[in-house]
Formats: sequence, C-alpha cells, structure tokens
Amino acid sequence: MNNDKKICVVGMGYVGLPLAVALSKYYDVFGFDYNPERISELINGKDKNQIIKNEDLISGSLSFTTDETCISNSEIIIVTVPTPVNIDNSPDVSFLKDASKMIGIQLSNNRKKSHKPIILYESTTFPGCTEDICIPIIEEFSTKKCGEGFDIGYSPERTNFGDNNHNLESIVKVVSAQKESVAREITEIYSKIIKAGIYIAPSIKVAEAAKVIENIQRDLNISLMNELAIIFDRLDINTSEVIKAASTKWNFIPFKPGLVGGHCIPVDPYYLTHIAEKNGYVSEVILSGRKINDQMHKFVVKKIEEFIDCHFRGKKSSYQIDILILGLSFKKNVSDTRNSKVIELIKQLNSKKYNVEVYDPLVEKQEISSIKFNSKNSIKNNYDILILAVDHDEFINKGYSEIESFIKDGGIFLDLNSVFYDYAHKKESILYWSP
Ligand SMILES: NC(=O)c1ccc[n+]([C@@H]2O[C@H](COP(=O)([O-])OP(=O)(O)OC[C@H]3O[C@@H](n4cnc5c(N)ncnc54)[C@H](O)[C@@H]3O)[C@@H](O)[C@H]2O)c1
Repeated sequence: MNNDKKICVVGMGYVGLPLAVALSKYYDVFGFDYNPERISELINGKDKNQIIKNEDLISGSLSFTTDETCISNSEIIIVTVPTPVNIDNSPDVSFLKDASKMIGIQLSNNRKKSHKPIILYESTTFPGCTEDICIPIIEEFSTKKCGEGFDIGYSPERTNFGDNNHNLESIVKVVSAQKESVAREITEIYSKIIKAGIYIAPSIKVAEAAKVIENIQRDLNISLMNELAIIFDRLDINTSEVIKAASTKWNFIPFKPGLVGGHCIPVDPYYLTHIAEKNGYVSEVILSGRKINDQMHKFVVKKIEEFIDCHFRGKKSSYQIDILILGLSFKKNVSDTRNSKVIELIKQLNSKKYNVEVYDPLVEKQEISSIKFNSKNSIKNNYDILILAVDHDEFINKGYSEIESFIKDGGIFLDLNSVFYDYAHKKESILYWSP
C-alpha cells in the first residue's frame, strides 16, 4: 500500500466506483459522492448499478463518504461526475462546474502549504472544457493559480460496462496534463491498475477530443446502418443478409443497425458540435447521424403497426394485442436505462393503447414501475407480438426455440438486434422480422 498518496474519487457512479475500487488495492482512497443514498448503499455493500460485486466494496483502504473535506486531505482528486445534455442538446456542464467549485473551496481550506494536489478530470467533455471552464473555477474558489497551487490532468474513461473483455484494466488509458511531470505522475498511478498500457496524449485538448470522437465514430457508423436498414426494408431486403455479404470484402466494417441509448453515444456528439458551433462551424455529418439514431425507435413502431394492420386489424382491438418487450436497458448486460430508446418505443406503443409488458432481468422492478410500465417477473407464453429489444446474454442463452415459445401461433417476433436471424423461419406459424 502506498501511504504517501491519498486519492479522492469524486462521483461514485458507473465510472467512479470501479476506479475507486481498483485504486484502493494500491492507495488509500476516498469514494466521495454528494448523494447520501448512494453512499449509504455502498457502505452497506451494495452497488445498485451491478458493476461491482458486494464483497469488493468492503476494503480497509476504501472509504465511502459524503464529507467534502476528504478532498483537502487528498493528493490526487479524480472527477467522474456526469456530463449530460440539456433539453436543447447543449452540453450540461453544471456538474463539472459544481464539482470544480467544491474542489476550489476545499483547496482553500486546511491545506498544508507543501501539499500541491493534482486534479484529474475523467468526465467526457468537449475540447477546451477542462482548461477554459474548470480551471478558472478552481482558481477563483481556491485563490490559487493552476500550476502553482494545484496541477491539472485529464484522462477519459473508456470502459464498456457489461462487457467483461473491455474493462478498466484491459483498455489502454489515455492520460494528459499541462506539465510532463504531472502526466508522468498520473501514468505511474494508473500503471498500477491498467494492464493494457498508458498513452500520454500531447495535450489535455487532444485527450478530450479523442474521447468524444471515439463515441462519435460509433454513433455515425450505427446511424449509417440504421439508414440502410430503413432503405432495405422498403426494398424488402434483409439488412443482416446484406451486411453478411458485404463483410466478405476486406475493408467493410460490419456494424449493425440498432437503438442507440445510454449516457455516452447519444450525448457526446453534441459536446463536439456545440464547441464547433461556438467556433463558427455547424456540423452536418455528425448531427445528421444523431438525427437518424434518435428517430430509429419510430421506424420500429412503424414496422409494428404495419404488421398489426396486416395480421390483427379488424380481428382485435389495440388493447387486446399483447406485446412483450424483452429488455429495457440501453444496451446488453447492463441495468442502466439512461436514454434507453426502448423506453421511447414503449411510450409510443402505450400511447396507441396496446397491452405492453416489459421484462428485463437486470433492471430493478421498482425502476420499471416508476416509469409506469407494466413489468413482469416472469414470461408467460401467449403473446401476439414479442420484441427482443436488448440482446442480454440471459435472453440469447434461452435460444431461439424458447424465445419463440412465448409467442402465440400466428404471432410476430421482432428481433431488433438480429440475434436469431440464422435460426429463425423454422416455425411457419410465427412471423420473424429483424432489421
Ligand atoms: N457510464 C459509462 O459507460 C461511461 C463510459 C465512459 C465515460 N463516461 C463518462 O464518465 C462520466 C461519469 O459518468 P457515469 O456514468 O459514471 O455517471 P453516473 O451518473 O453513474 O455517476 C455520477 C455520480 O457523480 C455524483 N456527483 C455528481 N456531481 C457530484 C459532485 N459535485 N460531488 C460529488 N458527487 C457528484 C452523482 O451523485 C453520481 O453518483 C460522464 O462524463 C460520462 O460521459 C461514462
């Protein structure tokens, strides 16, 4: 255990908690969050996000706290607060601003003169945010100059939660700082927990920009596939078949169409387009990709309506059409429902008065009920329409036959991630569709 450095991680969410747990194997760590409910849950050994196992929360060198003074007792302060967008899709940097203010106040309090902390931001943001927005706030409230009273670094988080192959230790960590000596110090700390290696970016702005473009590239690649899926549907061609055929070319990248949700991919592009606009450039490609992905659930609703018109209209009223949605989270194998497009999909189906039920084994039943959806603990076997919206392993492991058995003869199976495309069409009495 390295006792000369204490680390405070600000924000015990999806990003901050795993980082605090990993660092606590080598350092004394404060896991700080201003939300008392979150801290008491962690003290009681429970992570509602289901990222960290209960037993890993209990460690002598990790203390969870709501006490801000832990900041002034730390040599390294890592900020992992949310960076969402406002209703008009402009960046909401209020969490970053509030955290910077709080850190500034703490730096002005009780701080030993010899003690010069490093404040390391991990939240995703636009290039320039750390230096142009966060540093001036810390300087104002601490009354210390950056580089003299404290140093700054930026290291974006890249973990793919829900995917055991791409976790904190197995992904190269990009670090950056204004001074080489600070970048080296951050590298030394992260080298302890990251097995894949550290990449030192030449500046904080480069590291900030690198993080947003990783997610923009993914958003755009998916949006292209979504647009293709809409076109191919009109041409009565299956997109999975087209992708399979095109993938035989060496440089074709087989992205899949799908619903894009979560706290990162549908949000981060707006951070870059915002700063682009502030600098006199209005994005065309990035925003049009966003528009396609943002509307994709409407295409699915339109498909469902077409099937209903064909198979049930005149035979059943809307409320007699039983629809089961499998999966509510924004992606596979996570419980996170932030910006989940499945929620939008269900809202539209509910507004059309269909009888919609949702089953997601990872999302707490309480959360599903709080958004006033009809949630199920188990699945019955007589639905008119089944929508496999999220490809959780638990659903895939059931296999095609079991999933199909939940649907009535004459029913419809919409497989939004084309998981079972190769196995489908076995039972003629069920209509299978995937984009
Ligand atoms: N979740 C992901 O998959 C992921 C992946 C890569 C990057 N990121 C980025 O990491 C950042 C954090 O995302 P997240 O998903 O962990 O968010 P989150 O909402 O899960 O957690 C943030 C936590 O910060 C706390 N918080 C907010 N302001 C605070 C303050 N001033 N003081 C103390 N605590 C405060 C909140 O109470 C919350 O518990 C975002 O910028 C996000 O874009 C997230």
